[in-house]
Amino acid sequence: MSRVVPIAVVGSGYVGLVAAICFAEMGHQVFCVDNDERKVAALQGGDTLIHENYLPTLLGKYRNTRVKFTTDLAEATRECDAIFIAVGTPQSDTGDADLSYVEAVASEIARHITSYKVIVEKSTVPVYTNEWIRRVIERNGVNRDLFDVVSNPEFLREGTAVADFLHPDRIVVGADSERAAALLTAIYAPLTEGDYYKKAEAIAGVCSDRARPPLLLTSTKSAEIIKHASNAFLALKISFINAVSNLCEAADANVEQVAKGIGLDSRIGPKFLRPGIGYGGSCFPKDVAAFRSVAEQMGVDFNLLSEVEKINVGQKKRFLSKVRAALWTLRGKKLAVLGLAFKGETDDIRESPAIDLVEMLLAEGCSIVAYDPAAMKRAAEELPPSTQLRYVDSVEEATKDADALLILTDWAEFAELDLVKLHGSLRYPIVVDGRNLYDPKVMQEHGFTYMSVGRPAATPVREAVTPDVLV
Ligand code: UGA
Repeated sequence: MSRVVPIAVVGSGYVGLVAAICFAEMGHQVFCVDNDERKVAALQGGDTLIHENYLPTLLGKYRNTRVKFTTDLAEATRECDAIFIAVGTPQSDTGDADLSYVEAVASEIARHITSYKVIVEKSTVPVYTNEWIRRVIERNGVNRDLFDVVSNPEFLREGTAVADFLHPDRIVVGADSERAAALLTAIYAPLTEGDYYKKAEAIAGVCSDRARPPLLLTSTKSAEIIKHASNAFLALKISFINAVSNLCEAADANVEQVAKGIGLDSRIGPKFLRPGIGYGGSCFPKDVAAFRSVAEQMGVDFNLLSEVEKINVGQKKRFLSKVRAALWTLRGKKLAVLGLAFKGETDDIRESPAIDLVEMLLAEGCSIVAYDPAAMKRAAEELPPSTQLRYVDSVEEATKDADALLILTDWAEFAELDLVKLHGSLRYPIVVDGRNLYDPKVMQEHGFTYMSVGRPAATPVREAVTPDVLV
């Protein structure tokens, strides 16, 4: 039978908030600490602050009962057995992760430790962070017997964060002491022993009472490297298929067929082989840079990661060339843009390739009418509306009389457009799709000039000169 553990989670961003709510859903008593009073008040009032499936319901269920939102780290430290640090680790100018927030929280926790605590790194941090946290806590006068520091990286994806947390492929616990490992094992017992999945109201997902997630116990350093290596490998997979897609374009092959062909090899697998306009988000770009930087500092040649980054940047430039190839000149062209978020089903625009492309197109003198189901508010904060850039509330408004449509984010609703209506709405039936949401043949049948990634361009049969001849 699982036991209730009092847990503090410091930081109420994507990882911290989701972890806090999910620990409550697993039955634990949680303090979610943030030094931003406005955020804490909003969460206490039931505002989730982020766009995430299941979060509004679970927040409604647990706020101010099983999850206490507070700015009081001292009380949280005193009351809890485990303190998860889930604050931001932004990228510094050199590419390293900036660990000043982690350090500040560790010193603050140290000031309030009076009995044994396990401090858990949940933020994505480079190898050796664990040792630094330990040193900081000791320097603040805490006896070594009164605490352990463990690494418990998180692998959730934005948009499916709650389900990912409760139905993980694996739980990684890097602990160098048995006592700390035992506490983390108890915290995750509702998942690893299957009790959570037996509950009638459990969030559905891939795990069940019979298919429980494994908990992998490692050293702290290995766990730290597992997180960075996982993200770097996924980014590498994306850059690999993007490079292959460029080859497919040169050879007039079809990258979707190639990805299927390689993905059927069980050693490779079909996931993360979707070509596009490059990866974005708050994790991959930052983590690849941080991992490369850590390797460099340790004298390890990991130039492979620089290539991953280079291909990723190149993908946006290639897309811009495609738009130019479809439209000839760009100055003064009116473009409909669907998608601003870094991927579908999220309102996050951090490091979004869609935002980069909008900026590049504006610099070329295009005027843009953009629509995104969730990310427009954030996009407008970064790129304010102007005579050249308008944000509208529907696909129809965006596409009306546009010289071409550009698809930049893989929202499910963008894959189900009414093609007959779209054809009638655009000034010229040209679609440049950065996410391969449509079958070129279907687009051709509907009378579109259709350019996508790693697949031959499709043109309506009646058009005399095809864009790929012009490229
Ligand atoms: C990523 C990882 O997938 C999570 O496991 C990890 O926990 C998280 O980072 C993190 O470190 O916090 P996330 O950033 O939410 O999650 O987004 P992904 O779904 O991985 O997508 C990242 C980017 O890659 C997006 O821009 C997406 O459009 C792009 N992508 C993804 C592709 O271009 N092709 C693909 O096949 C898959």
